[in-house]
Amino acid sequence: MSGTALDHPRETLAAPPLALRCRDLVKHYGEVIAVAGLDLEIAQGECFGLLGPNGAGKTTTVEIFEGLTAPTDGLVEVLGQSWQGHGRTLRARLGVQLQETKFPEKLRIGEIVTLWRSFYPRGLEPAEALARVDLLEKKRAFVRELSGGQKQRLSLACALVGDPEVLFLDEPTTGLDPASRRQIWGIVEELKSRGRTILLTTHYMEEASRLADRVAIIDRGQRLAQGTPAELVASLGAEHVVEIVVADGVDEAGFHTLPGVEEVVHLDGAWRLTVSEVAPVLPPLLALLERQGLQAKRLATHHATLEDVFLSLAGRELSDEGAER
Ligand SMILES: Nc1ncnc2c1ncn2[C@@H]1O[C@H](COP(=O)(O)OP(=O)(O)OP(=O)(O)O)[C@@H](O)[C@H]1O
Ligand SMILES: [Mg+2]
Repeated sequence: MSGTALDHPRETLAAPPLALRCRDLVKHYGEVIAVAGLDLEIAQGECFGLLGPNGAGKTTTVEIFEGLTAPTDGLVEVLGQSWQGHGRTLRARLGVQLQETKFPEKLRIGEIVTLWRSFYPRGLEPAEALARVDLLEKKRAFVRELSGGQKQRLSLACALVGDPEVLFLDEPTTGLDPASRRQIWGIVEELKSRGRTILLTTHYMEEASRLADRVAIIDRGQRLAQGTPAELVASLGAEHVVEIVVADGVDEAGFHTLPGVEEVVHLDGAWRLTVSEVAPVLPPLLALLERQGLQAKRLATHHATLEDVFLSLAGRELSDEGAER
């Protein structure tokens, strides 16, 4: 061992092995600034979620890490190496599921996975990859014979057939029904238990909360917040949200006087009060409305989520995913 390592053993041990790192990452497409100075550090074995609305820069960031898009500026490291001069060795260690994959129509599922396997110097048997995503019985089917959820599982099989150290999953469950979504979550959880590093993008709060060890919320190419899902929700300072719809003319100042109210936001015709506890706030809230001669047209409460964190940070809703897709 070199003298330097012995002189600084603590320093050597303290540095956690990073799977992915970017610093001051910038990507311009002509006039469009897709990524505007992003810093991320993702540890080996971590499942990290990139969360943000349409156009936030998630896919651009992921594709830069994947070596598919060149950054305009900034530092990018994958498994401790830059893409320059290491493309071939890095690609062999990565698994990629793109936001959308078009597979050759004339190949059978088994042939597609075998083809993908041939791109890697080592990896799983194609049948093993298909079995992991529960598609083995479909190996003789053509792509057009698969449902949406089965196609997503096929693209997952292709992403994991090289037995990668780092997996990129760009919106793996968008547009899927709840059962197919849960099936994919199960596959991702199994990959996590095998110690794989996963960078996942999603619009779904529930997905991020369930799968990601840490999450970065991004908007307009910048990071708004980062932490474990629980830390981000705790950053609201209160754990519940009371949503109320009333006629115009309600006195907003009155909401702030209610017990335990941390934040008041008016969005899409509804008032959202972030509160520490629900029960103590409801009777005085209803009394407040009554004094103003108003009635609640709708009153609902929920436990605060990452959606509420985004709303608080960006002042608008994160996920209208159903509307756009
Ligand atoms: N090839 C491209 N040429 C020009 N502009 C692009 C290109 N790719 C992305 N953009 C723009 O960059 C911005 C970020 O896009 P990106 O695809 O990274 O967003 P996203 O967060 O993945 O969104 P979504 O949730 O809709 O997938 C958007 O404004 C988009 O229009
Ligand atoms: Mg995208």
